[in-house]
Order: sequence, then structure tokens, then C-alpha cells
Amino acid sequence: MNISNGQLWKYSSFIENKNYSFNKEEILKNISKNHIDEAYLTISKWDSYSPTPLLLLNKLSKELNLNKIYYKDESKRFGLKSFKALGGAYAVEKVTKGNKDITVSTATAGNHGRSVAWGAKRLGLKCKIFISEYVSDARGKAMEALGADVVKVKGNYEKSLIECIKQSLENNWQIVQDVAWKDYMLVPTLTMAGYSVMMKEIVDQINNEEITHIFLQAGVGGMAGAMVAGAARYLENTPKMIIVEPDSAACVMESIKTGKIEKINIERESLMGGMSCGEPSLVPWEILKKSVNNCISLPDDDIGKAMKLFANASFGDDKIVAGENSAPGVISLIASCNDENIKNKINLNSNSNVLLIGCEGDTDQEMYQKLLKE
Ligand SMILES: Cc1ncc(COP(=O)(O)O)c(C=O)c1O
Repeated sequence: MNISNGQLWKYSSFIENKNYSFNKEEILKNISKNHIDEAYLTISKWDSYSPTPLLLLNKLSKELNLNKIYYKDESKRFGLKSFKALGGAYAVEKVTKGNKDITVSTATAGNHGRSVAWGAKRLGLKCKIFISEYVSDARGKAMEALGADVVKVKGNYEKSLIECIKQSLENNWQIVQDVAWKDYMLVPTLTMAGYSVMMKEIVDQINNEEITHIFLQAGVGGMAGAMVAGAARYLENTPKMIIVEPDSAACVMESIKTGKIEKINIERESLMGGMSCGEPSLVPWEILKKSVNNCISLPDDDIGKAMKLFANASFGDDKIVAGENSAPGVISLIASCNDENIKNKINLNSNSNVLLIGCEGDTDQEMYQKLLKE
């Protein structure tokens, strides 16, 4: 099969960042080297810790005529099946500082809450999770199974966050939110420091090879910002950073266009649920605004197909469980290689070593199975 057949892989929009000016010191003012190092020292000592695999998509790199394509497989993260396990659970540990009487709370679309619930369980803390009515029952149950009290709120994610803040203030619970707002920067910064452990592991896994391109999925930009900060901390070279978003929720792209945070209206929820966010978060935005080379947005069309090709070991020798939010990296890479204009602009060629982030496995098993069958 010709995996990369240009007719089949779609992107919607591609832009260049006019304000690009990568500066390691500036980046590390937002998440310090100390934050990054402490996160790794702490998390790497957790009982169940082991680095997730860095796989090679050797079949695809051959077909696209690239040197290497690395895939960081977060489906193997702590049994929670997503990179989010690194963030919320770490922030819980840092903010509660060994105090066992604290109740932690958060609002979530699923994976962040699972991480907070797991972090609370590890430390024997009580946990309250607020989800919108649109979060699937399966995701709610997964958090209850970790001992959390799950509260369903009428309305969307924003409504669940408002309710979480209200009840947390009334009851003196400690909010552990991954999204920053004015006066709430520390916890999101700690969360991102947790995510940056991925980059430390990758550096240890690539055997001195140089990564030339990183495709970074973004919702509010936390994962992307953390990986850019990790690159500033651990890499000697500066890879090209390419942000990938659903075309229905390309808030980082819109913000990069104007150079300031833009809020967009989401008129259609993307299949890439974790990335369906309308506004970049403050901490990552400060990192991303000058460090991102390009942004690309995608329709949902090829998500199921990419997931299937991962599952069948069509991209490399390994069968990979890649969830909806893991597929856009490979889709945008293939779409970029199939478009001569983009390929030349971002310099994708036979010397390129591309890093893709497989940010989740089948975190919602029902959805995963449904998409595989389609
Ligand atoms: C499961 C999941 N949730 C959320 C996100 C988005 O992360 P953030 O909101 O930090 O940009 C991703 C990937 O981008 C993801 O895979």
C-alpha cells in the first residue's frame, strides 16, 4: 500500500510565524531549568515510573524519503495511557507538599482529571472532579475508579470550570488546573514541567542523533509549550517547531497570526477532543509566541484512517495504539511532505529526523474501537 498517497491526506491551513525568534533564555524564564529538572528528579523516582518507548516509523520514513521519524508512545504512560499522567499528578504532589488533609479539585475533559485523581490516590488525598455533560460516561467512570468524586455539570467545559472554582472556594479545596489565568500561573507551570519529562526521556533515547523537526499537537498549548521548554533545556540544536491543531479549534494558529492571544468560537467539536480548545493558555503562549516556526490545521477526515494504520503496523514495525489526539502528528507530516511548497519551506528532506508525539492511546476505548471500525 502506498501510505502517503497525496490525494488522501488533507490539511486545511498552513502559516509561518512572522515573529519567530527562538531564544532559550527567554523560554526558560517561563518554566525555569529548576522547575524542569525537579519534575524529572521527582517523577523518575515514582514506583511505577519507566520511560515510554520512542519508536521508529521506519516504513513511513522510507516512503516519505526522510531520514528518521520518531514516535513517542505515551499510550504506555503509567497505565493512564496519556502524557497528561505526567502533569496533573506531579502538580498534586508539589502543591500539597505532604499534607494529607487537603482535598484537590479540577475541571477536565478527561485525561487531566484522570492524572489528578491518580496523583491524589497515590498520596491518599481526597479528590473532586468536575466534568461537563459532554464528557463521556466512560471517562467519568475511569476517574471514579481512581477514587475521585466526579461531579457532572450542565453545559460545556467552561461551565464545569466555573463550578469547580465556586465549590473549591466554598470548601477550601486546592484547585489543580492545567490551564492558566491571571493570578493562577504556578500550577499550570508545574503541570507543564511534568510534561517536559517526555523531552528528557527522548534525549536519552536518541543516542546523540539530532532532531530536526517536532510536530506538536495543541489544545491550549500546554503540551507544546512544555516540549519547547524541554527542547530549550535539553537540546543543543533548535529543531523546527510545528504546531498542529483541528481546523475547528486552531486557537494557537490564530494567535500566532496576530501575535497576541486570540479567543475563537468553536462551532463544531473536533474528533480530536483533547485539542478542541478556543484559547491558548497564558504560560504556554508566552513560550510559543516566538518559538513556533509554523502552524498547520487539519480537518477530522483522516483521523480514523491514521489510527488504523498505526494499529496495523503500517507506519513502522510496531503495532501502536494511537488515540484520536495522537493521529494529527503523522497526518500533518504526510500532508506536509505531499505539498512541495510546505516541504521546501520547512526543509523536510532525506536528512530530516522528525519527532512526533503520540500523546495518548485508547483513553476512551469505545471511541477508539468505533473509529477503528469506520
Ligand atoms: C489527550 C490530549 N489532551 C489534550 C491535548 C492538548 O494538550 P494542551 O491542551 O496542553 O495543548 C492533547 C494533545 O495535544 C492530547 O493528546
